Amino acid sequence: MFKEYQHLRIPGPTPIAPEVQRSMDRTILGHRSGEFSKIFGDSIEKAKRIFQTEQNVFVVASSGTGALEMAVANLVEPEDKVLVVVTGVFGGRFVKIAKAYKADVMEVKTEYGLAADPEQIKSVLKQNPDIKAVFATHCETSTGVVNPIKDIAQVVKESQAIFVVDSVSALVGMDLKMDEWGVDITVTASHKALGLPPGLALIAVSDKAWKVIEQHQGPRFYWDLVSYKANAEKNTTPFTGPVSLVFGLAKSIELIENEGLEEGFKRHFILRDMVRKAATALGLELFVKDDNAASCTVTAIKGDKRFDVEELRKVLSKDYKIIAAGGQADMKGKMFRIGHMGYTHPMDMLTTIAGLEMALKQIGLEIELGKGIKAAEEVWANAKNIG
Ligand SMILES: Cc1ncc(COP(=O)(O)O)c(C=O)c1O
Repeated sequence: MFKEYQHLRIPGPTPIAPEVQRSMDRTILGHRSGEFSKIFGDSIEKAKRIFQTEQNVFVVASSGTGALEMAVANLVEPEDKVLVVVTGVFGGRFVKIAKAYKADVMEVKTEYGLAADPEQIKSVLKQNPDIKAVFATHCETSTGVVNPIKDIAQVVKESQAIFVVDSVSALVGMDLKMDEWGVDITVTASHKALGLPPGLALIAVSDKAWKVIEQHQGPRFYWDLVSYKANAEKNTTPFTGPVSLVFGLAKSIELIENEGLEEGFKRHFILRDMVRKAATALGLELFVKDDNAASCTVTAIKGDKRFDVEELRKVLSKDYKIIAAGGQADMKGKMFRIGHMGYTHPMDMLTTIAGLEMALKQIGLEIELGKGIKAAEEVWANAKNIG
C-alpha cells in the first residue's frame, strides 16, 4: 500500500508542490518555439525578483555544481589568485573547481560548524590586493552553517575582487539581496528551496562581473556566459534548455511570490527553530551551536555514544518513511541532517520529529515521547500566519 509514501527530508532534492508537479506535466514544447520563448523570458524576469537583482539571470541545464563551475570557468584563468571561504564540503568543492582551472587558490577555513569571519577575509584581501575573485558558500549544506554573506560582501567590495556566492541550498529559504549587498555572481539550483526536480541551475551576474567575463581568455564552451547572454537577449538558451523544468520554475516562483519572499523566509526560520528546539529537548546535540549561524534550510544533528546515526537513519526510513541525510566526507557516521526547505510546512516538521522520537526510542534511547513535539509545537504556536 505505502510503496511510494515518504517524507523526503534530505537537503535536496526536496518535495515538490502538486501545482509545480502539474505545471511540468504539460505537452512538451520546442525549445526554440515562440510559445516557449515567451514562458522562458517571463521566467527569467520573475527569477530576477527572487535573486533581488535587476541584473542578468541565466538558466543552465545542469546540477548546482555545473553552475559553480560556470562561475569559475568565466572568471578564472591559470595562475589567477582567488580566495575561497571554506566552511565545509561545498566550500571545498569551489577549491577543487578553481584548482581544476589552474588558479592560485588561497583558502580561509573555519572549524566545521562555525561560520566564516569577515574580518579574516578582510585581512587576507588587504595583504593580497591582486585577488581576482572571492568564492563563498551561503548555506554550507554539509554542516548547516550559514555564512554572513552581507558582511563578507561589504569587505569584498573594498577590494577589486569579484564576489561569487553559492546559494544553492539557501536562495529563497534565506535572504540574499544580491544588488543591495553587492554580490557579483549568485548560483542556485532547482532541487533545493525552489522545490523543483534536479536539472536546472540559475546564475545571476552583476555588471561588475560582466566586465571581467567579457575580457576572459580562458577556455569555455558549454559554460560560456557570453553565449548565454547573447541567447538570453532572444529569450532562449545556447543549447537545448530544460523545457519542462522551466514550466516548473515559472510555477514555483509564482507560489513563492504568492507567499511573499519575506513570509517565506519567516516560514523557513520557524521550520529551523522547530527542529532545533525539538532536538535539544530530546537531549540531542546540534552541530551548529550558534543560533545566529544556523541555517534555515538544513539542520545537522550530531550522533553520540548512545546511538549509531546510520542505524537511526535506517529505522527512520524503513519504519517511519522519513528519509534523512547522513554526514558527508569526514562527517559520515557522525551526524544526520534534516532538510527543511522549499515546499515544507510546519506540519511536516511535526511529522518528522514524531518519527524521530519513535525511531530513537526504538534503537534504545530513553526518550520521553512527545517532548520534542511539544518544543516544536510551541515554536509554531508562537508564530503566526503560516500557510
Ligand atoms: C551548497 C551547495 N553547493 C553545491 C551543491 C552541489 O549541487 P549538485 O549536487 O546539484 O551539483 C550542493 C548540493 O547539495 C549544495 O548544497
